[in-house]
Amino acid sequence: MVDSKIALPSFLSADKMPRHIAIIMDGNGRWAQNRGLPRTAGHRAGMEALHGIVECCVHWQVEVLTVYAFSTENWKRPRKEIECLMNLLVEYMHKELQALYDQNIQIRPIGNWTALPKKAYEVSKEAKEYTKNNTGMLFNLAVNYGGRLEIVEACKKITNACLAGQVTMQEITEDLFASYLDTGGQPDPDLLIRTAGEMRLSNFLLWQSAYTEFYRTDIFWPDFTGDHLAQAIYEYQNRKRRFGGLKQEQEE
Ligand code: FPP
Repeated sequence: MVDSKIALPSFLSADKMPRHIAIIMDGNGRWAQNRGLPRTAGHRAGMEALHGIVECCVHWQVEVLTVYAFSTENWKRPRKEIECLMNLLVEYMHKELQALYDQNIQIRPIGNWTALPKKAYEVSKEAKEYTKNNTGMLFNLAVNYGGRLEIVEACKKITNACLAGQVTMQEITEDLFASYLDTGGQPDPDLLIRTAGEMRLSNFLLWQSAYTEFYRTDIFWPDFTGDHLAQAIYEYQNRKRRFGGLKQEQEE
């Protein structure tokens, strides 16, 4: 039975849902500082906010959810904060893996996640393996992710395929290139949400976001709820997407 608390709000159209939602979960630090708490408390509250948003996405039949949990640039943060984020990843998987599995979610770590510290790597690998035969929502967890690095890595893989005679120069198209990215085979994000006010992509899904609708809110990530997500989807459903072309009425 669908939990009525997370039924699709009546102001949203079920047939115009974004297939893929991507989120830059920003503002954990400021949320904590505003409360006189350490930044690490903000990250923990952020992890709890993620729980609610995943549930909404599953109930609202979103096909793919991608969240930016740790970027290739986040290694510049103080060692204690990095440790906290890695420990939270481990804690998140210990707490949530079974529930995610039970919701038929497939977990896909994306980014250079195989280079994470041992425990963070192991839980990511276990989550991927454990949920690999699920057929429901794809949940891309971007950890040690950078859009530029992902593109460079795709170039290397295509070069190797060319050198091995598996791919010819003529076969390199946008579609082929996209299939070598970590999100290969998935639809591009329709809606990219950034919390906490900034208007930057911050090296997130650079290739995939070419025609993504960008939505920004001042809400800090730990305060972001299903109601805020519904608001973002409402705005998305009322945008006119042209993908570089014209709407029919403009052609006349
Ligand atoms: C940006 O906030 C947030 C991050 C760098 C980490 C995101 C992590 C979580 C939401 C929690 C962990 C979840 C998992 C699954 C590990 P910020 O610290 O840059 O905030 P600020 O801009 O206010 O300083």
